[in-house]
Amino acid sequence: MKVLKVASLLILLLSGCSSDYQKPVALPEEPFLVIAHRGASAYAPAHTFPSYELAIDMGAHYIELDLHRTKDGKLVVLHNDSIELNGSELEIDEITSDTLGAFKPADEFNQPTNEFASQRFSSLRVPSLEQVLREFGDQTNYYIEIKSPDRYPGIEQQLIDQLAGHDLLNREDSIPKVIIQSFSSDSLKKVHELSPETPLIQLYSFKKKANLSSSKLKQVTHYASGIGVNATAVTEQLVDAVHQAGLAIHPFTVNEREQFSSLFSMGIDGVFTDKPDLILQLLNQDPEGD
Ligand code: G3P
Ligand code: CA
Repeated sequence: MKVLKVASLLILLLSGCSSDYQKPVALPEEPFLVIAHRGASAYAPAHTFPSYELAIDMGAHYIELDLHRTKDGKLVVLHNDSIELNGSELEIDEITSDTLGAFKPADEFNQPTNEFASQRFSSLRVPSLEQVLREFGDQTNYYIEIKSPDRYPGIEQQLIDQLAGHDLLNREDSIPKVIIQSFSSDSLKKVHELSPETPLIQLYSFKKKANLSSSKLKQVTHYASGIGVNATAVTEQLVDAVHQAGLAIHPFTVNEREQFSSLFSMGIDGVFTDKPDLILQLLNQDPEGD
C-alpha cells in the first residue's frame, strides 16, 4: 500500500502536481497532416483570409495561426511581435486593435518580384482570432501557435475560452479540430491543465541537427502529444526517438519536393508548408520519389 502511495505521488509530481492530471491524447497515426503554414502563404499574404481560403480549398488538414494580443485585449493573427506603421516600430501588446487596423499585411507580399502579388490583396487587414473562427467555424481545423506568452498573461485561458465558445474543443472528429503549439513549455503546460483533451505540440528550433535526449522527450510526453522542429534539424534518429517516446513530429517549413521526400522517408507524421498543394500532390504520387 505504501509503495502504491509513493508511486502515485511520484506520478503526480512528474505530471505537474495536479490531482486531476490527464495524460495528453495521442494524435491519430493517419492521415499524414498537411499544415498550411500561415495559410497557403506562398500564394497569398500570410495570415489573411485569402491565404486561409486557398489552403482550405487545396485540402490542407490544418490552417496555422500565430497568435498575439493587442493592448485592448483582442487576440489577433499575425506572425511578428511588432509592426512597422508610418515609419515607427510598434509592439502589438502596446497598440490597440484600432491602430493595428491601419496596418496592411499585404504590403510585404505585394512586391514587384512576386508572381502572386495582386492589388486585390492591398485592402486586407490583420484578422482577429474571432473573425477567423467566425468565418471558418468547423469547416477546417486549427493549428494555433501561442507566440510570446510572457507578454500576454492569461492568454492560455482566453484562447481556450474563445475556442470553447465556438464549440471547437472536446469533439469527436477523425482528427482534432484544434492543435495548440508553442516554443514555451510553461504556456503549453498551462493549456494542458485547462484543456487536457487538446493535443499540444512543443516547438523547437536548432541551428544544427536537433539534439533532444530521450529523457527530454519523456518530459514532453507529460503535457504534449508531439513536437514541431525546424526541418533542417530533423534526422532519422530524432524521428525514431520521438516515436519511441510516443510523440508525433511535424517539421517546419517545407516547400521543396526533395526536402519533403527526404523527411517523409524518415517517417515524419505531418509537415508545415506554405504550399499545401505541392505537398498534397506529392502525397498522392510517391512522396519518397522512388
Ligand atoms: O509553428 C511552426 C512554425 O511556424 C514556427 O515558426 O516563425 O513560422 O512561427 P514561425
Ligand atoms: Ca507559427
